[in-house]
Amino acid sequence: AVTRTFSIIKPDATRRNLTGAVTKMLEDAGLRVVASKRIQMTKEQAEGFYAVHKERPFFGELVEFMISGPVVVQVLEGEDAVKRNRDIMGATNPADADEGTIRKCFAESIEANSVHGSDSDENAKIEIDYFFKPEEIVG
Ligand code: CMP
Repeated sequence: AVTRTFSIIKPDATRRNLTGAVTKMLEDAGLRVVASKRIQMTKEQAEGFYAVHKERPFFGELVEFMISGPVVVQVLEGEDAVKRNRDIMGATNPADADEGTIRKCFAESIEANSVHGSDSDENAKIEIDYFFKPEEIVG
């Protein structure tokens, strides 16, 4: 089925001017960008977004990294969008990522790993709603 997922192009990628290169890989994988905006996340916004990781030892660093520069938040649409996006992103740790994936090509570390993607349809909806109003999504 055609579904939607949520993506973030992270500060390590925007800093290296890779917004277009990352987006091209998403598009080449069969995903369509139906919403996109470049934002500077606030600390509160980043803490809320990553609230499920609040108890993890890397939470503080993760939040500081995510507010260290602009990010591009996107809604992606396509056949099985969540899985399709996860496949093209590659493993969280770039050391484990398959050849040809975004993280293998671009990620610097497990933290500065260039992209975020929703891990389920349920979380995709929550994450899309966290950053986008319905009228900002044009399919
Ligand atoms: P993301 O998909 O954005 O969701 C949570 C993020 O936490 C993950 O990508 C990684 O960038 C980051 N992360 C996961 N594990 C670690 C770790 N051990 N150290 C630092 N960051 C991590």
